[in-house]
Amino acid sequence: NQLALNNSIGKNELGLPPLVESKDGMVDITAQQGTTEIFKGVQTETLGYNGSFLGPVIRINKGEKVTFRTGNEMSEPTTFHWHGVEIPGEGDGGPHQVIQPGEAKDVEFTVNQGAATLWFHPHPVGATAEQVYKGLAGFIYVEDENSKKLRLPDEYGVNDFPVVFQDRQFTEEKQFDYQAVLNEDGTIGDTLLINGTLNPKLTVGKENVRLRLLNGSNARNYTFKLNTGDSFQQIATDGGLVNEPNEMDEITLTPGERAEIIVDFSKYNAESDIALVNEVDTILLPFKIEGQKTNSIEIPETLNDYVVTEEEKNLPVTKKLELFGMGKMVYINGKQFDMNRIDFTQKQGETEIWEIYNKPDKMGGMTHPFHIHGTQFKIVSIDGKEPPISQQGWKDSIGVEAGQTVKLAVQFNNKGVYMFHCHILEHEENGMMGQVEVI
Ligand code: C2O
Ligand code: CU
Repeated sequence: NQLALNNSIGKNELGLPPLVESKDGMVDITAQQGTTEIFKGVQTETLGYNGSFLGPVIRINKGEKVTFRTGNEMSEPTTFHWHGVEIPGEGDGGPHQVIQPGEAKDVEFTVNQGAATLWFHPHPVGATAEQVYKGLAGFIYVEDENSKKLRLPDEYGVNDFPVVFQDRQFTEEKQFDYQAVLNEDGTIGDTLLINGTLNPKLTVGKENVRLRLLNGSNARNYTFKLNTGDSFQQIATDGGLVNEPNEMDEITLTPGERAEIIVDFSKYNAESDIALVNEVDTILLPFKIEGQKTNSIEIPETLNDYVVTEEEKNLPVTKKLELFGMGKMVYINGKQFDMNRIDFTQKQGETEIWEIYNKPDKMGGMTHPFHIHGTQFKIVSIDGKEPPISQQGWKDSIGVEAGQTVKLAVQFNNKGVYMFHCHILEHEENGMMGQVEVI
């Protein structure tokens, strides 16, 4: 299940989604179907938000009251889920909040979380994986006082880029081949699209450039590194800035996870062979350096004040979840998803320790990317130890390896029903999902 090697890599400039700011708090988001020229001269049937393929980057601010005006212009039902957003359950866009074709709905909430790179995608029972596969996914940026005060690269499309990685499989006619590659453990494709672009390259200046990486694949994990072996700085996890930039040689993201990194391009030039590659050195995204040394923004030494408190470390485990299985036989605590069953309740504003155990099977088992809606949690421990530095920050998804036990400090700031599930979208579809009601 490797990505196909190809000689055309770098032929196309990386697509940049439109940046949408709220107007008096209003943001229009319409799910549509259309066609897109992914391959030269061929139209592929695709889905998108406010366009035919993928979605915009929506930028909102902490403290702001926003209304997402969601509309469904597709011929099938969908929902609008805000992955990582702390939003009341009724607006979360889980499987209960279906929007029928031709319908629209306003989702109102006050942004009440720190600066972060989040995303949105559909969540209807039985069609989440396929709708995402065909293009329904967009970014949400949250900014706050701290992120605005810190001088970080934040010029959209200049030194600050959204970068979503999605592997896909195409038919000979260059249409999405979802059914053909549908495997119970997810759809793994041989063709990588980044921001929907085939064979992309990214042109950057000789400066510090911020890349907001999102693993938007249905099932594939990526370990990102630079082909030069040079390090980069990680500045954010899923749900916020880390305390200090982490110098990293590589970073792994399971489906649904994000990381913001800063790459210093000042030491390269137009002739440099520099690219983002994966764990087996397949080139994912080559960079083209343009121009002279510019006024590169220095990364501040302190970015945030995230902390797992002693109290949180000492709280008893009050929720235990056992992840088990592969293929169609995937379970949480021996059960598969039932829309009418609430698995847990939790009090609004109270911190509880969730213990997630990924029980191996005879074959060993597999990593399940575990995600909880409506919250940003803290990883207290992984197998009893402090999490790696790259995971010391706000998270909403965590890749739990077979045999691992992770403890999470989970707090919900809003009420309502929220999903928790494996973010291998085909596992989620196969029932590896449950519901917690916050009261
Ligand atoms: Cu990206 Cu239920 O989530
Ligand atoms: Cu899974």
